[in-house]
Amino acid sequence: MPNKEDLEKYAKQIQEMILEQARKEYSEVVIEHWQYPRNFRATEQPDGYGKVKGVCGDTMEMFIKVKNGKISECSFLTDGCATTIACGSIATELTLTKTFIEALAFVSGETILKKLGGLPEASIHCAFLAAETLRRALADSLYQQKYSWKKQYRKT
Ligand code: FES
Repeated sequence: MPNKEDLEKYAKQIQEMILEQARKEYSEVVIEHWQYPRNFRATEQPDGYGKVKGVCGDTMEMFIKVKNGKISECSFLTDGCATTIACGSIATELTLTKTFIEALAFVSGETILKKLGGLPEASIHCAFLAAETLRRALADSLYQQKYSWKKQYRKT
């Protein structure tokens, strides 16, 4: 029976093998955002919320808060793959401190792909899922501004 030290060593070796394999397909930026995702959480009482199911069946949720005309908080959740996590993470970073218009204009699937240093063909849709989820959250924030009285009836 292996002892605790052996198991830890074995787990570390497996992690290294996974990372080595990932480095063949993904940039260091993708791997870094996957391992240490930014803003990976729900936000209580967001000013804007979006939830989108991608073509692959994975879902992303995005939450924004707006203060003085700028996005003061932007967070996400996903049940998707490592690439989806990296895309959501960088999308929230790109969105923070931007105005509504700047976020809408700047944070696209193409921008996310560029900032991540590209993705393999099979993962490109993950970037567009993140961008679409953000767009829904931004659109929702406009709706909530217009119909602020409805906020008390919302669950999210
Ligand atoms: Fe489906 Fe990433 S969003 S694999």
